[in-house]
Amino acid sequence: MTSLLKSSHISQRVDELLARMTLDQKIGQMTQPERMACTPQDVKDYHLGSVLSGGGSCPGDNLPADWVEMNDAYWAASMEADDDHLAIPLIYGVDAIHGNSNVRGATVFPHNMGLGAANDPELLKRIAQATAREILATGVDWTFAPTLAVAQDYHWGRCYESYSKNSDLVSAYAAPFVAGLQDNLGDDAVVGCVKHWVGDGGTTNGIDQGETTLSEEQLRAVHIAPYHPAIEQGVLTIMASFNSWNGDKCHGHKYLLTDVLKDEMGFDGYIISDWDGIDYLSEDYFTAVGLGVNAGIDMFMVSEDWRNFIAHVRTHVEAGTIAISRIDDAVRRILSVKVAFGLFDKPRPSERKWSNHASYGGVEHRAIAREAVRKSLVLLKNEDQTLPLQNDARILVAGKSAHNRGHQCGGFTVAWQGVRDNESIEGGTSVWEGIQAVAPNASLSADGLGLDASAEQHDVAVVVIGETPYAEGMGDVRSGNDVIVQAGSQIKGLLKVLEPYGDSLELARSHPEDLAVINNIRRAGVPVVAIMVSGRPLVINQELAESAAFIAAWLPGSEGQGVADVLFGEYDFQGRLSFPWPAAEQPGDADAIENGPLFPFGFGLSYKA
Ligand code: BGC
Repeated sequence: MTSLLKSSHISQRVDELLARMTLDQKIGQMTQPERMACTPQDVKDYHLGSVLSGGGSCPGDNLPADWVEMNDAYWAASMEADDDHLAIPLIYGVDAIHGNSNVRGATVFPHNMGLGAANDPELLKRIAQATAREILATGVDWTFAPTLAVAQDYHWGRCYESYSKNSDLVSAYAAPFVAGLQDNLGDDAVVGCVKHWVGDGGTTNGIDQGETTLSEEQLRAVHIAPYHPAIEQGVLTIMASFNSWNGDKCHGHKYLLTDVLKDEMGFDGYIISDWDGIDYLSEDYFTAVGLGVNAGIDMFMVSEDWRNFIAHVRTHVEAGTIAISRIDDAVRRILSVKVAFGLFDKPRPSERKWSNHASYGGVEHRAIAREAVRKSLVLLKNEDQTLPLQNDARILVAGKSAHNRGHQCGGFTVAWQGVRDNESIEGGTSVWEGIQAVAPNASLSADGLGLDASAEQHDVAVVVIGETPYAEGMGDVRSGNDVIVQAGSQIKGLLKVLEPYGDSLELARSHPEDLAVINNIRRAGVPVVAIMVSGRPLVINQELAESAAFIAAWLPGSEGQGVADVLFGEYDFQGRLSFPWPAAEQPGDADAIENGPLFPFGFGLSYKA
């Protein structure tokens, strides 16, 4: 596929365009503002090559029709042809990282961590295909997915975006997911973007956007490895990472971006920066722009400051500090992707095959998500065969996430940091709703706290506990500010520091309310089945000891029904840990998770031995 981008029918078309383009038109192609910061008129006036929606940024009422309308307007502006402007279709990008989850009513698939436990590459391909259709339903062509991070330290707020701590599993998923999204570049395809290049999952203390200290051999073996199958599968774009490697920021890393990724690994698509990612290269923005372009980034996600970005690139070219050959290379790559994807031949977004399609958020896609939920659940404990439950059992359902579709979905759902209610997730089922549908004698604890539990009235309780939604650095768990000071001192460049999620991986410390609910019910003499919704493995020794059965549900997404499918034995558990489970909090020592885990990589019980 990489050779496709260099094939003669594509390069001829690109050469013809390039020959006609002014410098401003070229720089415009390299620029990607956020939708809130640019109008369709800007797209035309500045020849913008792309626009994105950041997490939670949505037009109108955030329904597919609003997105299609917005994309029609941007597309029409990009296609106007006159003396000052060439018709080059705009490409719009979103974070459809677990379904097209920014948009109301989308099918929300489990986050990657759960999919890792499912260990099913064929399922991954179907998820990617369904996701592509829900993206296309909104008139969008490009998703910043899949994340190929190989998360090592569970303090990292982006753990759940990672399929596994094991690089081989991430590698096994890369090609099927890309194949599903890009679907032979036909009418059912969107452009994929593997991210974040490279070493995002390896930062010290799991600090988001932090420092990854590794030998080149280790970097290649663990973090670079999954990019090989993605490139072989023809992934068209790759996003640079905020983290640094041995002190140097990836966004300014010519060796990693140009020498390794493009020259050595043969990546012919284009590299997009992360959100204002070049800003951290230098305190001086003009310098930062030069470093980013010269390092090999081709398109720049410059959310608001895009006019300055454009002006600076121009000044650099005029001064000779950025060679025109570098600009031509970047634009050639961007245009090659647009041509290969068939963007020039597609009608306006509203006239495309899948726009506003009824399959969006529909039963077929939700069935795939439900299958993914049941395959991703990992059974950690099942004392006295508490599970499977009988459908006619008197089940008390409690815990803060028992009836909360927002919690189930986690970050990057409707809003960047996720949502915490049922109403915002339209369609789908909470865990409670899934149980209710098949167990007529089940009841929802009145206050959620399980204080209404009684051995006379309840045979068993299902308690849904865990973390509440977060995304990126706001999900980091940090023992103290010293880890940030230490990270900052290792990095050449600036470190962005966000308020962390908490200071401990121990659930009893970060969410004591969960153990309280379990104990309320236990004290009443009712056995507890605990289901944990979380973006990472947590230290759960106390909760585990007090529960008769324990299930790791990760962030299952909108289809809570998939949990009931397994709870009642209609399906067996087949999820296996793609991250070893920690026995204790071992800050700063990712390897310690491996040496003495509570449950090893690959662990998971089943009903059938
Ligand atoms: C994240 C990326 C994401 C981008 C656009 C950044 O903050 O690091 O993963 O694709 O925002 O929303």
